[in-house]
Parts: sequence; C-alpha cells; structure tokens
Amino acid sequence: MAQHNADRVSDWNGQSGERWVAHQARLDAIAAAFGQAAIEAAAPAAGERVLDVGCGAGGSSLALAARVGAGGQVLGVDISEPLIARARALAPQDTPVLFRVADASSAELPEGEFDILFSRFGVMFFDDPTGAFAHMRRALKPGGRVAFVCWRGAAENDWVRLPMGAIKGIVPPTAPPDPEAAAHSRSATRRGWAGS
Ligand SMILES: C[S@@+](CC[C@H](N)C(=O)[O-])C[C@H]1O[C@@H](n2cnc3c(N)ncnc32)[C@H](O)[C@@H]1O
Repeated sequence: MAQHNADRVSDWNGQSGERWVAHQARLDAIAAAFGQAAIEAAAPAAGERVLDVGCGAGGSSLALAARVGAGGQVLGVDISEPLIARARALAPQDTPVLFRVADASSAELPEGEFDILFSRFGVMFFDDPTGAFAHMRRALKPGGRVAFVCWRGAAENDWVRLPMGAIKGIVPPTAPPDPEAAAHSRSATRRGWAGS
C-alpha cells in the first residue's frame, strides 16, 4: 500500500518547504490574524497542553505557548524538516514548546494528553482526512477542544475567485478542482501557498 501523504511529505520537504522558509516572515504576517481568531475560539488557558498540527515554522505554536504559560506545553508537529528546523531556531529558550517532525495523521502521539487540538492551515493536506482526524482525536483528553483554520472551497475565497475571474478569457480555462482531493491540490499548494 502506498504511504499516506507521500506526495505532501516530498513537497513540504522540497519546493514548498524551501519557499515557505524563504518567505516565512511574510507568510507568518499574513496568517497571524487567521490563527489568532482560531486561538481565541480555542481559548487556551494557563497550564493546558496543545497539539499544533502542521505547525510549520511555529508562529502559531509560539502564540499558543504564550497563552498556556510555563505550566503548560505546546507540541508542534509537521512533516517538513526545514520548517521544523526554522521553528526550533525561532523559539526563544524556555518557551514551553516542543517541535517534532511527524505526520500528524499517523504518528504515535501521546493518548488522551492534549486539551486542545489546534491548527493554522495545517489540516488541509491529508490523503484521508477522516482517518487523520480519527487518529488525532485519540491524542485529546475526554472533553478536549478542536480549533483550526483552513480555507473553504475556491469559489468561496476571494483571494482565489477574484484573480481567477480577472484572467478569465485571457488565459486558457483550467479543469475545475476535484472537490474530493486533499483540500489543496499539489498545484494549489505550490502556487497558492508557497508562491511561485
Ligand atoms: C500552509 S502550511 C501552514 C504552516 C503553519 N501552520 C503556519 O500557519 O505558518 C501547512 C503545513 O502543514 C504541514 N503538513 C502537511 N501535511 C501534514 C501532515 N500530514 N502532518 C503534519 N504536518 C503536515 C506542512 O508541512 C506545512 O508546514
């Protein structure tokens, strides 16, 4: 059986990962407000433990760590070695955060340990989203919370819809995206996220 998320692992350790690292500060600034809204929804309290899925360079993990404080802990997991390296480099010493290179959809995670399952745009890439969420659910304490931010379909996103509308009739039409594909197709991952 093919390994789940193999294309994503390759891409986020290759082209997309390199580009994300290169533009990390700018991308963090763009994503900050969205992540903050999800953090407010999650309402992390002092002393809580948070799993940050697809944490990338760790911007949201650090924001969460500031909320849970020294008595709590944030575990950021990501499939991308370059992004986890950047996250470790950016984390100030004594911040209650750990970073781990791992596929959140299948990695061994401590069971029943986390108060919050959180993600800032890191849960859109699973080959099997249902299986991935079922797996990650087991890491939550009974009554734990889930808060994440991800894009809706392209038709509901002005940052996709408006430019595509503007070039309609100028460039050849493309096939509509497969609604069942992992939320962002590989090309969207490359063009939409990591810049081109
Ligand atoms: C759009 S980036 C967001 C990064 C970060 N959360 C942020 O907001 O800056 C998506 C991240 O999800 C990670 N990712 C994709 N699939 C993953 C998986 N199965 N397990 C863990 N991380 C994953 C990628 O490596 C990438 O860092």
